[in-house]
Amino acid sequence: MTERLEDIALAMVADGKGILAADESSGTIKKRFDAIGVESTEDSRRDYRELMFRADDAMKNHISGVILYDETIRQKAADGTPLVDIIKAAGAIPGIKVDAGAKPLAGFPGDTITEGLDGLRERLADYYKLGARFAKWRAVIDIDENENVPSATAIDANCHALARYAALCQEAGIVPIVEPEVLMDGTHDIDTCYEVTKVTLLQLFSELYAADVNLAGTILKPNMVIPGKKSGTKASPEEVAEKTLKVFRETVPVAVPGIAFLSGGQSDEEATANLNAMNAAGPLPWKLTFSYGRALQAAPQKAWAGKKDNVTAAQNAFAHRARMNGLAAQGKWSPDLEKQG
Ligand code: 13P
Repeated sequence: MTERLEDIALAMVADGKGILAADESSGTIKKRFDAIGVESTEDSRRDYRELMFRADDAMKNHISGVILYDETIRQKAADGTPLVDIIKAAGAIPGIKVDAGAKPLAGFPGDTITEGLDGLRERLADYYKLGARFAKWRAVIDIDENENVPSATAIDANCHALARYAALCQEAGIVPIVEPEVLMDGTHDIDTCYEVTKVTLLQLFSELYAADVNLAGTILKPNMVIPGKKSGTKASPEEVAEKTLKVFRETVPVAVPGIAFLSGGQSDEEATANLNAMNAAGPLPWKLTFSYGRALQAAPQKAWAGKKDNVTAAQNAFAHRARMNGLAAQGKWSPDLEKQG
C-alpha cells in the first residue's frame, strides 16, 4: 500500500483539524519543564507527551497529525505501547522533525542557517519505517534592521536547504512541512514583518520550483504577519489577517493544499483569534490551520506541573485549546467560546 503525498497533505489540513507540534528538542523541552518545576528526564518527557496523545477527544476531533522529536518517535508508553501507535489509533498522522537546528551563518553575524541535510536520505527511510508520513524543517529568519539582518544570503541559503529537504522527503514518501519562520521577537513594525515574509516566501517557492518539489504534496508552515514583540505595538486580528493574507496571495501558489501556522510566542488566545480572523475573511484558495507548539501546550503544561493527579486537568486544558483552534480553522471561533471552558 502506498499512500499518495497529495492525500497525506490533504489529511493534514482536514476541516477543523490542525497539527500538534510536540517536537521540542531536548534543550527546548527542558526550558518548558523548568518553567513548571519539572525535571526533564526520558520518563517525564514520555509521561507528558503520552498524556496529550491519550487525550482522545482532542486527538480524534481536532488533531490531524503530531510532529515528534527523534526520541519520541522511538518511545513506548508506560504500558509498552509505542507512542506512534497511540497517535495512529486516534486517527492522527505521526510526523518527525528532521532538521538539526539553526547555527550561525559564517560571515553573516546575526543570521543563521539550519543544518541537517547530511545523511538525511537514510534518516528519512528510517523514520518512514517508524511510521512517519510527514516531516518538518524549520528555517529561522531573524529581523534586526540596525544590523542588516536578515541578509539576502541567509534567506537564499535557508530556502535552498528547505527545497533540498523537501525533495528528499518526497522521494521517501513523506510530506514535507516547509517552515521559513520569520521571528516575531524583534523591535520591527508589522510592515517590516510583511516585507521580510514576502521576500522569504518568494525565494522559498522559487527554490521549491527549481528543486522540482510537488507543491500538492507540500504543507507550508509560516509565521503570521505581526509587529515584533519589542515594538511596543499590537495589531488587531483583522489587521494581522489582512496583511498575512495579502502576503500569501502574492507569493503562495494555489497548488499548495494547506498552510499550517506556527504560534511563535503569541498568547494562546491571540494565536486562535488571528487564525480565526483569516478564515472568517475567506473563501481562500488554501486551507489555513494551526501547527502550534506553545499555543497548544502552554495551558496543559501549567495544569500538569509534573503530577499524576493533574493528568485529567492537563488533558482537558489541551482539549480546550485544540477545540478552540479547530473552530478558528473554520472561522467559527469567538471570544465567548473561551469562557465556556
Ligand atoms: P510554536 O507554535 O511554539 O512557535 O512552535 C511551532 C513549531 O513547530 C516551531 O518550529
